[in-house]
Amino acid sequence: MPTQTGLRTPAPQATARARELVEPALRAAVATLHPLPARMAAFSFGWCEADGTPAPSPGGKGVRQAFALLGAEAVGAPEEAAVQAAVAVELVHTFSLVHDDIMDGDERRRHRDAAWKAFGTGPAVLTGDALFALAVQTVAGAGGGHAGRAVAHLADCLGELVRGQADDLLFEDRPWTGPDAVSIPEYEAMAGRKTGALLGCALSLGPVLAGAPALQTGALVEAGRRLGVAFQAVDDLLGIWGDPLTTGKPVHSDLLRRKKTLPVLAAVARGGGATGRELTRLLGSETVPDATAAQRAAALVEAAGGRGFALEEARRHAAAAQACLRGAGLVESATGELVALSAQLLERRL
Ligand code: IPE
Ligand code: IPE
Ligand code: MG
Ligand code: MG
Repeated sequence: MPTQTGLRTPAPQATARARELVEPALRAAVATLHPLPARMAAFSFGWCEADGTPAPSPGGKGVRQAFALLGAEAVGAPEEAAVQAAVAVELVHTFSLVHDDIMDGDERRRHRDAAWKAFGTGPAVLTGDALFALAVQTVAGAGGGHAGRAVAHLADCLGELVRGQADDLLFEDRPWTGPDAVSIPEYEAMAGRKTGALLGCALSLGPVLAGAPALQTGALVEAGRRLGVAFQAVDDLLGIWGDPLTTGKPVHSDLLRRKKTLPVLAAVARGGGATGRELTRLLGSETVPDATAAQRAAALVEAAGGRGFALEEARRHAAAAQACLRGAGLVESATGELVALSAQLLERRL
């Protein structure tokens, strides 16, 4: 918008533009649910308090809806397909978070209680189910003649997400050292699934709905997978060194649960000497870790180079994703925005 000085205000961020376009359709979709899951879903999106009183909160970052719109724009898909894809991926994303917090035992999400904490585990499971069903309905009801293929595509991506979550859970019981320890490539395969599959779905669902060629949708899925590893590595870093007031999620909960996050895996794999020995002892201790132990573990992970390694890996995978996007013969302006958004994700504090 022109100002009195003749300067233009900066172009709105891709995420702000996406929110403006997608949120009305998302709210309309959620409003079609049974009132009970509708209220719990609205709470999880940050639109109301647990009792239904309207109370806008920051909600989620809306990264996936932005990727969905840009992915669709990148193949010249119609706006309607782009918005339907964006609504579906945000529904699936929130469904996965509502269930993930039950699996991880995390009590805070998006600056408020996790759904299971606010409503109980049973109702939270049901809310996730409702959001999942609504996402399928959204894609199945899309026009353009490719809805069947798009539903199958969504299901494939979700199957990958479930595989990733299953590995993430199984890794909790694997040892930190020795032949059965989780390797960095195993971690990256898991993150590419649990987080990358939905980012790939976000990038490719609009294009599939619009009948884009498999070569392009395949490249978008692969870009999403690589971006997912980068995104998850940053999420792991924020889970140790982030500020809960900014992230809206607990800090050190991964350390307390001894989750196999990238900084910790890398620190154990690289850390020799006294630092490595103390870290391995702390992680393997029979004693239930407390806040002091988690603080000490965080310092040891950093000293052993785990923090730096995870950031480097995030950069490497984001660069691979960007190369993938640039090589897919996509609309140039949208590709530029996709690359810029993926770069911003490395700098995020929330
Ligand atoms: C959190 O995703 C789950 C992961 C895959 C790491 P986001 O960090 O995008 O969550 P919201 O939507 O902003 O809350
Ligand atoms: C979330 O992974 C991935 C999915 C929900 C599919 P995490 O468990 O690492 O993400 P946060 O840190 O709880 O958001
Ligand atoms: Mg979690
Ligand atoms: Mg999890």
